[in-house]
Amino acid sequence: MSRRSKIGSKGVLLGSVVVVSSLAGACSSDPAGAGGGGTNAAAGGGPATGAEGAGGAAAGAAVGSCARVNPFSKGSECKQYTGEGWTGESAHADCDASMGGPGAFTAGGVCAPASLLGRCDVATDDGTSYVLYSEGDDAAQCSMTRTGCETFAKGAFTPGPVCAGATGGGGAPTGGGYGTVPFVQPYRVCKDPVPGEPAGHGEAGQVCTWTLISGSTEVGRHYEDYAACADVLTQRPYWPAPAREATAPGDPRLEDAAYLGEIAWAKAQVEASACVCCHADRLAPSGASQWATDAEGIWLDGVRDSGLAMMAGLADSTALGAFPAEDNNGFDRSVVGVPTTDVARMKALLIAEWARRGLTDADAAKVPPFGGPLVDQLSYEPGPCKDGQGVTAGGAVTWTGGEARYVYVLEADAKNPGVPPNLDEPAGTRWFVEVPNAAPAVATGIAYGAVAGDLRQRVPASGAPAALQAGATYYLHVLKDVGFPLTRCLFTAP
Ligand code: HEC
Repeated sequence: MSRRSKIGSKGVLLGSVVVVSSLAGACSSDPAGAGGGGTNAAAGGGPATGAEGAGGAAAGAAVGSCARVNPFSKGSECKQYTGEGWTGESAHADCDASMGGPGAFTAGGVCAPASLLGRCDVATDDGTSYVLYSEGDDAAQCSMTRTGCETFAKGAFTPGPVCAGATGGGGAPTGGGYGTVPFVQPYRVCKDPVPGEPAGHGEAGQVCTWTLISGSTEVGRHYEDYAACADVLTQRPYWPAPAREATAPGDPRLEDAAYLGEIAWAKAQVEASACVCCHADRLAPSGASQWATDAEGIWLDGVRDSGLAMMAGLADSTALGAFPAEDNNGFDRSVVGVPTTDVARMKALLIAEWARRGLTDADAAKVPPFGGPLVDQLSYEPGPCKDGQGVTAGGAVTWTGGEARYVYVLEADAKNPGVPPNLDEPAGTRWFVEVPNAAPAVATGIAYGAVAGDLRQRVPASGAPAALQAGATYYLHVLKDVGFPLTRCLFTAP
C-alpha cells in the first residue's frame, strides 16, 4: 500500500461540517452540532499558516462589511471585504450566502467590534482577501476562534483584548487550552492512590498514568485524580456543545437493570480515560463537548450517530493516535474508538446502540475517518521543496511559514508523521527535534544534527543522525505545533 495516497487538500472531512480537531486526541467532529450549514471549503490538510504575509490587507475598507453569526460558535462576527477583487455586488452576495444565515451587509461599512476575541486575516490570490473579526467576551471561545481561523480559513490570527491574555505562550502545564499554550507532549506520572482506593499496579502500589488524550488510568479510577486534564486541553481544541439528546424520563431502558449495568460500566471506562476531561460537565472548563458521562439518564444518548460510529469502531479513528494496551493500564482503542479494557464488551454495547437507533452497515460506511486535517496529513503527498526549504550546503535546515516547534528530516518514502503516542516517529525518520512546551519556537536555519539551545532531539534517541548523502532526496516536515504543518516537501541534499 502506498504510504500516502493522493488526496486533494479538501480531502476527507468529518460528518456534516468542519472538523476542528487538527489535533491529537480522540475525537473530532463538527463543531456546529447538528448544523447542516454546508461544508467548509477550507478544511483540509494544507499548511495552517499560509497567510503570514496578509498583514497589510486589512486596511482598505472601501467595499463594505458584513455582520453575521458564526455558525459554529453562534457568536457575532464581522467580515471586512479588503481584497481589491471584491465589488459591492460580490461582497453583498457573499454576505447573503454566509454559512450561519444571511448577514447584514453595509456598503462602505467598517467592522468595529465592541469586544474582540480576535481578528483573522485571510489572504487569497484572486483578490478576495478579507478580515474576519470575531466578537465576544468569553475567553473560552479563544481556542476555537483561533483554530477556526488558522485551520479552516487558513488565515493569520491576531488575538484581540479578550484572547490576548490567554496567548502569552510558554508556561509549563497550565492548560490554557489549545491555541493558548503549545501542545503538551505526553508524559507519565506515578502517584499514590487517592484515599479509599486500593493499591495501584505500579511500583510501591502507585498508579501510573499517561497524560495524553488517548491515555487512561487504572480501571475503576478517575482519570482526573491521576493525570492533568489541564494539559490534555492543549492537545485538541475544546469548546462546549449541547448533547444530541437527553434520555426521556419514561424510557423503558431506565428499568432494565442489566442494560443500566452495561451503561455504568462503559461510563466508568470513559471516566478512567482522558476523554472525560472534555466529556464530563464537572470537568470541562465551560461544559461538556456535546456528550457528557455525567449527563442525567443514559449518557450514551448524548452521542450523535457519527460519534457513535467512531466509538464503536465503525468509523476509523487511527489518525487520532493510540497507546498499546500494555502501556495504557490495559486500555485499548485500536478496535473501538473509546479506550476500553474489554473490547468485545464495549463493542457489543455500542453496536447494539447503533442498531437500536435503526442504523445499518451502510450508514456506518458513510461515516468518514475521524481526525479531519489529521487524516489528510497522514496521506499528504509532498512535492518538491521551493526556495528557502531544504538543507543548505552549509547544513542549515530551512523552511518557510514561520517559527517551528517540530522539525523532521525523513527518508523520501517515509510515512507522514502524525500525532503522539504512536504516529509521531514514523519509520524512516532520520532526525527529529522539538522544543519543549515551555520554550519558544525556533526560526528557520537550525543546523542539521546539532542540538542547540532549547532543541531536544527525539530521533535518533542518542548520538548524531546519519549524514545526508549528497544527491539523495529526503523529506523535510516542519510543524508549527502538533497538527499544524508549515513546510512539507522533498529536497535533494547538496
Ligand atoms: C480537549 C477536549 C476533548 C477531549 C480530551 C476529548 N474530546 Fe471528544 N470532543 C471534543 C469536542 C470539542 C467535540 C465536538 C463537540 C461538538 O461540537 O459537538 C468532541 C466530540 C466527540 C465525539 C462526537 C463526534 C461526533 O461527530 O459526533 C466523540 C465520539 C468524541 N468526542 C470522543 C472522544 C473520545 C473517545 C475521547 C477520549 C479518548 C475524547 N473524545 C476526548 C473535545 C474533546
